[in-house]
Amino acid sequence: MAGAGEGHARPGGSGGARPDDHVVVLFGATGDLAQRKLLPGLFHLAASGLLPERYRIVGAAPAAVALSDADFSDHARATFAAHVITKPTDPAWAGFEASLSFAAADPEDTSALLATLAAAERAVGGTPRRLFHLAVPPPAFPSVVAMLGAAGLAEGARVIVEKPFGTDLASARALNAAIHEVFDESQVFRIDHFLGKESVDNILALRFANGLFEPIWNREHVAYVQVDVPETLGLEGRAAFYEGTGAFRDMVATHLLQVLGFVAMEPPVTLTAKSLRDETAKVFEAMAPVELHDVVRGQYVGYLDEPGVAPGSTTETFVALRVMVDNWRWHGVPFFLRTGKCLAESRQVVTIGFRQPTLRMFDLGTRQSWSDAGNELVIDFQDPGSISARFLAKEPGPAMRLGTAAMTFAYDSSFATANDLEGYERLILDAMLGDQSLFTRADGIERIWEVAAPLLESPPPVEPYARGSWGPAAIRRIPAPHGWHLPERP
Ligand code: BG6
Repeated sequence: MAGAGEGHARPGGSGGARPDDHVVVLFGATGDLAQRKLLPGLFHLAASGLLPERYRIVGAAPAAVALSDADFSDHARATFAAHVITKPTDPAWAGFEASLSFAAADPEDTSALLATLAAAERAVGGTPRRLFHLAVPPPAFPSVVAMLGAAGLAEGARVIVEKPFGTDLASARALNAAIHEVFDESQVFRIDHFLGKESVDNILALRFANGLFEPIWNREHVAYVQVDVPETLGLEGRAAFYEGTGAFRDMVATHLLQVLGFVAMEPPVTLTAKSLRDETAKVFEAMAPVELHDVVRGQYVGYLDEPGVAPGSTTETFVALRVMVDNWRWHGVPFFLRTGKCLAESRQVVTIGFRQPTLRMFDLGTRQSWSDAGNELVIDFQDPGSISARFLAKEPGPAMRLGTAAMTFAYDSSFATANDLEGYERLILDAMLGDQSLFTRADGIERIWEVAAPLLESPPPVEPYARGSWGPAAIRRIPAPHGWHLPERP
């Protein structure tokens, strides 16, 4: 098989190689994700000179919604105008536009796809690599994969599969089995765009490139960990997807737990895909099954009136929970996860709370204790990202009084961020390079569904919360006796 697979070194380590010549086939090319992230991302890669020297992009969709080549170009142009900083006026646009074509693709009739793909490959010349990106609704994954197999297109190709990968353990296993009938694991790139975020990748540098943090990154010193991703966004017209998915499957079983994997893993031997994914898989292996009394599900008031939402729907638009990683490093340290739609702020934050030393020698002033001030390391991983260490310092003056202080590293004021890639862009590039490091592996995903089973089988009732709030009042009990780091105190 041509997939470079798990032994491949990460581009960061190999100095940013340029991918081989490619034909990228984007299934679901007229859909929401292609419009918001994938087409703009491919264009940004082209404008940054990071795509292969010669490439073609084939949009694909079922015949019922297929476009002509010209309409696909117009669609892409409109998409870029709305969704990217790099606009279609960029000098790279003409070359990019010339690379686009469109094909109808249905399991019963792949003739148009085969002809368009062959034409794209002739235009590139030689034997370009094939990359199939499945940006289709999850129920369609197996049929598109089977279609690729039946059409003889899988040999030597790579395939990017979107999230959520299954809806529970049984469906994830069935999907893995369906994919493995056609593709070898080394060809499969299960994408989770949070792992492509610069600041999430930086968790590895922060932990393992410094002597400062790793010695205290354990149960001896850490009291709790939080991964908090509130969103002000609502449904954004995605009711059809969201109704069958909900906040847990959309965000926790995917993004939040993958971030947790990076925060909690043991030092990998190398940064190859195998080492990294072995370590995150061990974290998920050590996770205890979710306890129902450690979960709060919420639904914002007004959700039931959204177009496309079923009457009386019990889909959660919010979830907060506590999980435990029961290994030597983390035994007894709670991990608090929270995410939801229509909340007060859009933030993406990991907080490491450190144990408090005795403070009896200090004057607490009017405070009963400092338990609400906390020593915390706060990793804000929303682009461009920052890291702050919060600690107690002496307030100026004759008395030994404490005040809260912070030291902050901000990406945008510390490095040139002009060439930054968005999560999706970085990962599409990695897939072209055959580097699976930041893609999830079958065993890791299956274990996450296994751990989530109690919640999926008997979900607690949804509790209402007001739009613009931080979720149902009941969530305060999840991190008790600690509090949520967000909203940040002034
Ligand atoms: C997607 C979810 O995967 O991630 C969305 O389906 C969510 O519901 C989005 O809004 C958040 O990602 P980001 O990083 O683009 O804000």
